[in-house]
Amino acid sequence: MKILVSDPIGDVGVQIFKEEGFEVEIKTGLKPEELYQAIKGVQGLVIRSATKVTKELLDAADDLKVVGRAGTGLDNVDIPEATQHGVVVMNTPGQNSNAAAELALGHIFALSRHIARGHAGMAQGKWEKKQLRGREVKGKTLGIVGLGNIGRILAELGKGVKMNVVGFDPFLSDEQIKERGAEPVRFEDLLAKADYISIHVPKSKETSGLFSAENLGKMKKGAYLINCARGGIVDEEALCDALAAGQLAGAALDVFEQEPLPADSRILAAGDVCCTPHLGANTHEAQENVAVAVAKQMAKYLKTGVAENAVNAPK
Ligand code: NAD
Ligand code: MLT
Repeated sequence: MKILVSDPIGDVGVQIFKEEGFEVEIKTGLKPEELYQAIKGVQGLVIRSATKVTKELLDAADDLKVVGRAGTGLDNVDIPEATQHGVVVMNTPGQNSNAAAELALGHIFALSRHIARGHAGMAQGKWEKKQLRGREVKGKTLGIVGLGNIGRILAELGKGVKMNVVGFDPFLSDEQIKERGAEPVRFEDLLAKADYISIHVPKSKETSGLFSAENLGKMKKGAYLINCARGGIVDEEALCDALAAGQLAGAALDVFEQEPLPADSRILAAGDVCCTPHLGANTHEAQENVAVAVAKQMAKYLKTGVAENAVNAPK
């Protein structure tokens, strides 16, 4: 049986497939038409966030049985179409959560202490000590939107640095949110109360554009927004306007409406902004975890029919 790896994964995952007797083809960065050819004769497709698993790709596949996402987000996969095509879709929940939560905390500190601006100024020969007076996070309110695998780790990290942590998640009870380290609040209250808001929800119909001009306007004046979840959950134009108007003190983005982010994006020129190129899961540890998990899960499914972490159930 053949596995196509269409986005980069750790070598250890490829090794597991080979040890399990699979033929592995690594073809990353393909254009859609090239992918439609490469998918022929393939039983398992391994992706991260770059490959779009569309109806067209599924139509082009002639023997595909499973799509494995080495990571969490599945907004790049048309799951109903995969189900129609009899293709199981699985991800690796929890395997990169610590990495993403640590990046979010890193961004909170980077914004509070102007770390990126300080470095950029020095690289241009400037010593902006006076201009870059920061704020301490101790005693400030951290609002976490989405208390899943990442949000719950960030809640613990936030408490560890003495922040007051509040959380909103409509799919969890107040009791569950408390168990995950946050004080449960309504979304509107989180917007109004938090000094820092960190987003950890999947991209969906409900969460696309959640941080619209209207909701950014409901945030506490001078607060910070951190998005390490998915591009498009924050309206980037509205964010630039909110920063320019001084409604927000700053923002950190790891994910963008368009990736890679064009160099002429307005967000890069905005004031106190810290951007990273989708680095949330980009640690040695997380990439090893997701590669091992996805390879083991896919090999198991293809050999035994047992689907772990499947998000659909084709008949
Ligand atoms: P998860 O499924 O464990 O948690 C998501 C949580 O969001 C769940 O508890 C769910 O109930 C909640 N939720 C759903 N809709 C909501 C809404 N409208 N409002 C509030 N809460 C809502 O997922 P996770 O592992 O914590 O990851 C979250 C997202 O982060 C992923 O879907 C992915 O898009 C993104 N992610 C990004 C990176 C990165 O590299 N930047 C890395 C990992 C994950
Ligand atoms: C994820 O959803 O797991 C992230 O986007 C991580 C990634 O694949 O880079």
